[in-house]
Amino acid sequence: MASNVTFHPGSVTAEERRELLNQKGATIWLTGLSASGKSTIACALEQHLLHLHKFTYRLDGDNIRFGLNKDLGFDEKARNENIRRIGEVSKLFSDASAITVTAFISPYRQDRTVARELHDKSGIPFIEVYVDAPLEVVEQRDPKGLYKKARAGEIKEFTGISAPYEAPETPEIHIKTDEISVAEAVQQITDYLTSKGFI
Ligand code: PPS
Repeated sequence: MASNVTFHPGSVTAEERRELLNQKGATIWLTGLSASGKSTIACALEQHLLHLHKFTYRLDGDNIRFGLNKDLGFDEKARNENIRRIGEVSKLFSDASAITVTAFISPYRQDRTVARELHDKSGIPFIEVYVDAPLEVVEQRDPKGLYKKARAGEIKEFTGISAPYEAPETPEIHIKTDEISVAEAVQQITDYLTSKGFI
């Protein structure tokens, strides 16, 4: 924690910002195994919400690791830090009134809880979406060949093979991607957002 720093509140309250922009931000937090469908759903959801003229922005694990988080690997500590930063960044985007869609494996329950609590403190909705597909299915999909490499021992600490994935116990939304299409998944999330008055 830095010392000698002071928090400066702006001249516009969170409530005023919402009214002026006619949009309330929210974070839609997708979590699931590699190849479960997080990025595909996040892209389709972003496109759908933008076409509804909602200010939407997507943060994706692979992409963020090219920039902001390029100093982080995949051991437990690095993943904790990855998700800590994304919790902060998504909170900032949502505070700026964006509907923020995050797509990170985020394998540790405690890290997701920390991100949720951060949002709760600022009164920003945090919607956890469990993008669920059985390990056999994602291993069969293996679009990047990573599971094959992990099984061969060429990638260490690979989620689901040699590193843990702690599934959400009470997610706001549970999507089974081996049972429904991407369009249906987008609809499921959109229906939830509508029912809660977020869009
Ligand atoms: S985490 O666990 O939330 O910090 O991971 P994330 O930032 O979402 O990054 C996941 C993507 O990194 C690639 N990759 C790995 N995933 C899991 N375990 C290991 N060891 C690993 N090494 C590289 C992989 O492409 C993940 O992308 P997705 O889209 O999930 O398949």
